Amino acid sequence: MSTAEIEITVRAPRFEHASTPHNWLPNNPELGYRLNGGSLTLPYLEPYLIRVMRMAREQLAEGAAESLELPRQALLRDIDLFNGQEAAHFKIHRAYNDFLRERYEGLEALEAELEADFARFLREESLEWNLGYSAGFETTGMMMAELFFGEAEPGMKDAAPSVHGLWAWHLAEEYEHRCVAFEVFRAMGGGYFRRVELFFYQARHLASFGERAAALMMEQDRAAGLLPEATEITPARKRLASSMSRATRWRVLRGVLPGHNPRRHGPIAAADAFLATLEYA
Ligand SMILES: [Fe+2]
Ligand SMILES: [Fe+2]
Repeated sequence: MSTAEIEITVRAPRFEHASTPHNWLPNNPELGYRLNGGSLTLPYLEPYLIRVMRMAREQLAEGAAESLELPRQALLRDIDLFNGQEAAHFKIHRAYNDFLRERYEGLEALEAELEADFARFLREESLEWNLGYSAGFETTGMMMAELFFGEAEPGMKDAAPSVHGLWAWHLAEEYEHRCVAFEVFRAMGGGYFRRVELFFYQARHLASFGERAAALMMEQDRAAGLLPEATEITPARKRLASSMSRATRWRVLRGVLPGHNPRRHGPIAAADAFLATLEYA
């Protein structure tokens, strides 16, 4: 697939959260709360990604590169589009996070921990390490988009449109820029074992935060009677959970094999169809 076939567009849609229910994804509450936890990471994670990509951009613009899969100018342009999309993501998620922080107690302490982690990564780790973390997260973002528009879809019925729309937009754009951090990491000399090591590192790092934040929100909603103690496990819910976990295991395996290349992943029709429905400034 050539560069021209993957278009990256920066959009800034609006989502109104005032009437969003606590359990916004009633047919898959666990995923809904995990996505809430994920949303809280973004105003720390995405500015970090932007800073890492800017550092790499400076070096690439000055001629540094061990190998280039794209012409240098195309790679620099992709970095700018990547940064434009990530900047819109964390700003728009921040409005939802403010809303979550008003609803739930104790999120700030978790957020402070994450903020300190990213500051430490920038201070203590090499650019290659930080690019590996960024490329690892980009692979996660791509897998999340495939899951969200694929196996998770049957659970999206009755989702609150505001939060569903927020994630559909974000993940569709994550899918658009699925090659950028990967190609920058490789251009700057990042190797296979580093990529795999940091893929698992970032996955564990972010999951640990997201799971704690999700558990905190679920506990408070259960205590307030806004989320049933145990939701009935219907055959459809069981099928959904097992198809999602099977697909995730398979995608992780494929993503860490040496032949992984996001450029070989074709467009997701449902993601493109969703983006076409968005009105944005
Ligand atoms: Fe993003
Ligand atoms: Fe991204």
